[in-house]
Amino acid sequence: MLTVLTALCVALPGKSPAENNPRPTASIAATTTPNGYTQKWWKEAVVYQVYPRSFKDSNGDGIGDLPGITSKLDYLQNLGVNVIWLSPHYDSPNADNGYDIRDYRKVMKEFGTMDDFDALLKGIKQRHMRLIIDLVVNHTSDEHRWFVESRSSKDNPYRDYYIWRPGKPGAISPEGGIELPPNNDPSFFFGSAWQKDPATNEYYLHFFAVKQPDLNWDNPKVRNEVYDLMKFWLDKGVDGFRMDVIPLISKDQTFPELTPEQLQRPDIVYAHGPHRDEYLQEMNRSVMAKYDVMTVGEALGISLDETPLIVDERRHELNMIFDFATVRINRQGRHWKDWTLPALKAVYDKQDAALDIHSWNTVFLSNHDNPRLVSAFGDDSAANRVPSAKLLATMLFTLKGTPFVYQGDELAMTNYPFQRIEDFDDIEVKNGYKTEVLTGKITAADYIADLRKTSRDNARTPMQWDATTYAGFTTGAKPWLAVNPNYTQINAKEELADPNSVYHYYQKMIALRSKSPALIYGDYKDLDPTNPTSSPTGERSAARSILSSSTSQVRPEPTPSPKA
Ligand code: NOJ
Ligand code: CA
Repeated sequence: MLTVLTALCVALPGKSPAENNPRPTASIAATTTPNGYTQKWWKEAVVYQVYPRSFKDSNGDGIGDLPGITSKLDYLQNLGVNVIWLSPHYDSPNADNGYDIRDYRKVMKEFGTMDDFDALLKGIKQRHMRLIIDLVVNHTSDEHRWFVESRSSKDNPYRDYYIWRPGKPGAISPEGGIELPPNNDPSFFFGSAWQKDPATNEYYLHFFAVKQPDLNWDNPKVRNEVYDLMKFWLDKGVDGFRMDVIPLISKDQTFPELTPEQLQRPDIVYAHGPHRDEYLQEMNRSVMAKYDVMTVGEALGISLDETPLIVDERRHELNMIFDFATVRINRQGRHWKDWTLPALKAVYDKQDAALDIHSWNTVFLSNHDNPRLVSAFGDDSAANRVPSAKLLATMLFTLKGTPFVYQGDELAMTNYPFQRIEDFDDIEVKNGYKTEVLTGKITAADYIADLRKTSRDNARTPMQWDATTYAGFTTGAKPWLAVNPNYTQINAKEELADPNSVYHYYQKMIALRSKSPALIYGDYKDLDPTNPTSSPTGERSAARSILSSSTSQVRPEPTPSPKA
């Protein structure tokens, strides 16, 4: 039995997950597993995240789009995943690649039209898969019509859709008084979280970019707008939502100054507004309770012990959250931090202990905000990329919880060899460059060395479909972000033709998991928590050593033994 992997698999009677989930919209009769879990389609799903901008371009403009995704649905069905999570596809000026929404009921024009969305959804349903979409409602774009109205005057009916405060007086200098922002809340994308707006001389709150003003959830009109837009998409047939930074929706509107300690982890402060659970329960009553949906919250600032507050099914909030303790185990802000296998296993242990049969987990080590899976948790050298990617797949598909695959991880795509600031697109990287490098705090070389390992743009380079120009991602113009130069060796066409590829290993592991209720719901026990086979520097050898301390009962095929 694999040591850190789902051990002690409980044999469960009854239908296989595939039989339980024959049609996209069918609701499953609630059955209970011998160890007490209520069976649900979203617990049995394997989710595949599509970052539309980088998945497949259909019209040669260099930007991935919805028809591009539709053209690859057979590829996804063949892989065996059964839920697609689509990162934001809404109308947006793209200050943060779609996480800044201008119109929640329109499709981003670069991605296509509403007809293209409907065709994508139809294609997904025809293949008995489901679609969840990104719900980004902590903030909008500053180009959203609500904000355009809100900023226009203090008595505009939309003023209270956002959070406005006057500045406060600062020190008096010989030149006169200085005005300070309402408090010292920082933005995740550098600088103050307050931006002064000349039209009314007040400040608005933005936890992310200046172009991403935070909505005022204490205004019931805002909450109802959100519930309505959720219903708009659910009535179209989508199957749920991934909820962006959802714990941040409720603010302490007294805005106390953060202490130096709190400034180290503002996400913890921001995630603990007074009405968070009340609003999520209201959202559940108003929307989710009326549909058979899957909800997964991005749980910035929520500790493991608090997870049940949001996901315990008896509290009627969300189905699952993404807990960052695993995926960020190798990070200190933007800096890389070496990690060890026992430390990672300890998090899986803690997760298991924190969540009982009423709370369900997610399993993931990558997404569009993190570096590539095999580069961060495996060994992306030519010799070990394939075996370490297979090993990580074995772990992710055998842990208890719903697994999330990020596009390209099934090919073991790697980090990009960034050299210069111009190679990046991400607003976070660019803001950081202005704040840290251009002010002389650190050198450009140090900054880029960090980001080469940790930048989100690593995950956003175009999908590598084949060995033709631009990896078959686009037929025309240059892609919006450069293709990784290793596309001639690492691409879907090659892997589909090779029965021993990472793609085929994912396919087998997904099939095995789908046929084995024990792998989904079975109890977990780490039989060897302090296994020291990882090197102290962890980064390269730790993941490999997970399997080196195992027997082969769960493996669908012999795992190549990496040279440690
Ligand atoms: C989390 C998203 O995953 C990230 O991409 C985005 O920049 C922030 N939330 C702001 O929406
Ligand atoms: Ca396009």
